Amino acid sequence: MKPDTLAPGIHRVYARIGDRDLFEGIWPIPHGVLLNSYVVQGTEKTAFIDLVKDWEGAVGAVEQQMAALGLSFKDIDYLVLNHMEPDHTGSLAELCKQNPNIEILCTKKAVPLVEAFYGITEKVRSVASKETVDLGGKTLVFEETPNIHWPETMMTYVPEDGVLFSCDAFGSFGQYEHCFDDELTTAEWELLIPETERYYANIVSSFSQFVLRGIQKLAGLDIRMVAPSHGIVWRKDPARIIELYKTLAEDMNGPAEAEVTFVWSSMYGNTAALVPIIKKTLEDEGLTVRMHEVPKEHASFVLASAWRTSGLVIGMPTYEYRMFPPMYHILDILERSHVNNRKVMRFGSFGWSGGAQKQFDPFVESLKWDCVGVIEYQGAPTEDDKARAIGTAKELARSVKDWSRKKTVE
Ligand SMILES: Cc1cc2nc3c(=O)[nH]c(=O)nc-3n(C[C@H](O)[C@H](O)[C@H](O)COP(=O)(O)O)c2cc1C
Ligand SMILES: [Fe+2]
Ligand SMILES: [Fe+2]
Repeated sequence: MKPDTLAPGIHRVYARIGDRDLFEGIWPIPHGVLLNSYVVQGTEKTAFIDLVKDWEGAVGAVEQQMAALGLSFKDIDYLVLNHMEPDHTGSLAELCKQNPNIEILCTKKAVPLVEAFYGITEKVRSVASKETVDLGGKTLVFEETPNIHWPETMMTYVPEDGVLFSCDAFGSFGQYEHCFDDELTTAEWELLIPETERYYANIVSSFSQFVLRGIQKLAGLDIRMVAPSHGIVWRKDPARIIELYKTLAEDMNGPAEAEVTFVWSSMYGNTAALVPIIKKTLEDEGLTVRMHEVPKEHASFVLASAWRTSGLVIGMPTYEYRMFPPMYHILDILERSHVNNRKVMRFGSFGWSGGAQKQFDPFVESLKWDCVGVIEYQGAPTEDDKARAIGTAKELARSVKDWSRKKTVE
């Protein structure tokens, strides 16, 4: 692995993480993820921006790329910690042992976290928005961007080259052979956009109000390159990733795309019996339908779909007087991320007295969903149940089309 040069004296040194682990211990990463660190060399001082967690030999990979630049951790004067999450700080104690002279720069809110996570109290300096550190011919300018992703998060900007080191913001899941947006192959683009959307939905979505605030704060900067800590570096079209993040943040309260996420579960086929009928009705109305059967599919993918679509179909039977448990998990995940204001229909079978709907109703209320109809039935669906399902699906299609964003921004 070789370092990538963003500008004279600015390099990416990074690690490729495979598909074995779950990200944050919960989200699958079938295409892996990149952990990006950056070196900024001035004539006087050298800064290192964000570390990597020692995952699959990541620290060794970074050290090897530093060596290719003729550098080691001993040459670093400043360590900028934009964000304290261990994917970007996991090797901090080890690094400080190698180079005890390093000065850590982080926000005021990060200082107690540096101590709590790594027991480090010496040579930790807090920096605030607009504060600068001169490296000699290159300046670090800090901007606090709380809650993208943790409360202590900031971004670092180098005005001489217009590079924004945005940490988790503007990041993506997935590994890419190429570093820069202008180098990506068609296959890499086909991975990058969905993996950016899934990363956003899984990692960032609950903080969407803060994403919009953060983007507003950046408005005054001449951003010529966006260099996040996961994914690629945007140098040809940095506005594209900022615009995509803005659209994704706005998806929280809708309207989103004129599409439907269809998530369903069934034990014995009675709920499943309505699945093809409802799907076909929606497709005949011209809508794209994103199908997810749970628990066969992980909530990560359901959340990524639901975040982007204005419509939701939820099919599940009653189980022990309540919802089918894997669907409860899905609704819990959607509620945590605030997938608000969707057009929704629900259907499902029960055996004797039901109960799923009673547990479903509070989610509808808390997420401010517009539930256009519920088709619940005992045992197998009758012809009348099927006709009601078709009618409700048509109504859902109408309201999704009426309400959704008119133009796709991507
Ligand atoms: C473990 C289990 C628990 C169930 N609990 C309830 C219940 O509390 N109330 C009810 O009305 N039906 C209950 N049922 C019946 C199912 O809701 C019913 O069989 C339904 O048709 C299943 O739909 P499916 O074929 O889509 O899986 C239960 C079924 C199973 C297997
Ligand atoms: Fe994070
Ligand atoms: Fe991260």
